[in-house]
Amino acid sequence: MQVIAFISGKGGVGKTTLAANTAVALAQRKQRVLLIDLDPQNVQRLHLGMDPDEIAGLIREGISSAGLFDSPFGISFIPFGRVSETELEQFEMELKIHPHWLSDGIESLGGNFFDFVILDTPPGSSVYLHQALQAAHRALVTVLADAASYATIPWIFSLVEEYTAGRPDFIGMNLLINQMPTHGKLGHKVRTALYTDYAHQLVPVAIHRDSNVSQALAFERPVLEYEPGCKASLDIQYLADWLLDSTE
Ligand SMILES: Nc1ncnc2c1ncn2[C@@H]1O[C@H](COP(=O)(O)OP(=O)(O)OP(=O)(O)O)[C@@H](O)[C@H]1O
Ligand SMILES: [Mg+2]
Repeated sequence: MQVIAFISGKGGVGKTTLAANTAVALAQRKQRVLLIDLDPQNVQRLHLGMDPDEIAGLIREGISSAGLFDSPFGISFIPFGRVSETELEQFEMELKIHPHWLSDGIESLGGNFFDFVILDTPPGSSVYLHQALQAAHRALVTVLADAASYATIPWIFSLVEEYTAGRPDFIGMNLLINQMPTHGKLGHKVRTALYTDYAHQLVPVAIHRDSNVSQALAFERPVLEYEPGCKASLDIQYLADWLLDSTE
């Protein structure tokens, strides 16, 4: 089983979108996949067309086989759940006290139950990111090829190093560029800087900016199901193949 965390320094870069679609792409490749929404925004469910009222979620059910939903797209899913401010505060306090809450929960499902566990996290440093990094075998740092994303990379890399230090089962972190290409002089400069400064960490595919991605979300479907042949879908499939190849 491999646990992959989608993380970022800056918000709105596409973690939730890419986590959902990578999970679906891996399931299409006959992998048993669990997707966990670790973000209190609780929006991952929208990519999977799940009814918000039917959802108990991570906080109330924890990580257990009883709390798993079968999504219509072939993956198992644990939503964050809709909770009150008080519940959220209590939960976050608990996570601080038990830094291995998530990794213990995933382990309790049994090592052979899933081939991949995909984690979606909130942007920046948080108790959720720390939990995710304690559990992950691989971190996919999602970035846009813009100056703001670029500026956060050293900081997020050092966080990953801090939380995964000394873990022999941690494969490594990779940079995943989303919403390419970026136009203009500055965009070109940042892209060049990404390719030269982080050549060894770059995932060998960048995800195209593609209007089908937001249209798919409006229909509450993964773009892979909404428009399988569009540019973004093809890139995500390449990403899934790369993850499979580099796991073997
Ligand atoms: N490749 C893409 N092409 C076009 N639009 C995209 C692409 N990837 C993501 N988007 C759009 O960008 C917006 C942000 O995406 P998403 O919610 O996945 O980001 P996020 O990193 O999870 O955000 P947050 O940090 O708030 O959790 C959404 O409207 C999504 O539809
Ligand atoms: Mg998100």
